[in-house]
Amino acid sequence: MSTTDPHHEEHADGIVEDRTKAPPVYFTILFYGLIIWGVAFMSFYLLSGWSSDAEFQEKMAAHKGEPPAQQEAAPTPETTPAPPAEEAPAAVSDGQELYAKHCASCHGAEGKGGFGPDLSGEYKYGKTDMAVEESIAYGRPGNMPAFKKKLSSEEIKSLADYILSL
Ligand code: HEC
Repeated sequence: MSTTDPHHEEHADGIVEDRTKAPPVYFTILFYGLIIWGVAFMSFYLLSGWSSDAEFQEKMAAHKGEPPAQQEAAPTPETTPAPPAEEAPAAVSDGQELYAKHCASCHGAEGKGGFGPDLSGEYKYGKTDMAVEESIAYGRPGNMPAFKKKLSSEEIKSLADYILSL
């Protein structure tokens, strides 16, 4: 146990290093096992394409019932995107569906009013097809947005039919 013996080196702090005995098996397994696990773990993360952010976005989209691509813009009245032209024909004829999507946020789920006025009673600008379609297409001064660019004239007609039936 002197510094001249190559198998028993005494360090400056008095600890003697015994180089003749192999470390215990459990230690060797743990040591190399953890290295392998670490490399495997990192390469899974780097190569699999998985990311916690993508998973979060996916779950949020599923939670909101929307496809992931559409979820950027929160559906505020101003940013609600018009349905793409090809998709339109089947979905649009339903005034009630359009109402729920574009109008309910302001006029209430049943048209009883909210930020926008009650649509089930008297109409300030007239309660005829024409007046109502004009309200929808061109908007009204007191913060009623124009929908001419977002909705087709068929869609506006079915909306007018729907709200006049309220
Ligand atoms: C950003 C909120 C908002 C959204 C979204 C909105 N409205 Fe309005 N709407 C209003 C407000 C506010 C008024 C009152 C405007 C005024 O008095 O000048 C109004 C007025 C109207 C009027 C005229 C009512 C009257 O008294 O003559 C109609 C009809 C109408 N909205 C229908 C709709 C329809 C249909 C949609 C969906 C396509 C819609 N609105 C979406 C806020 C909204």
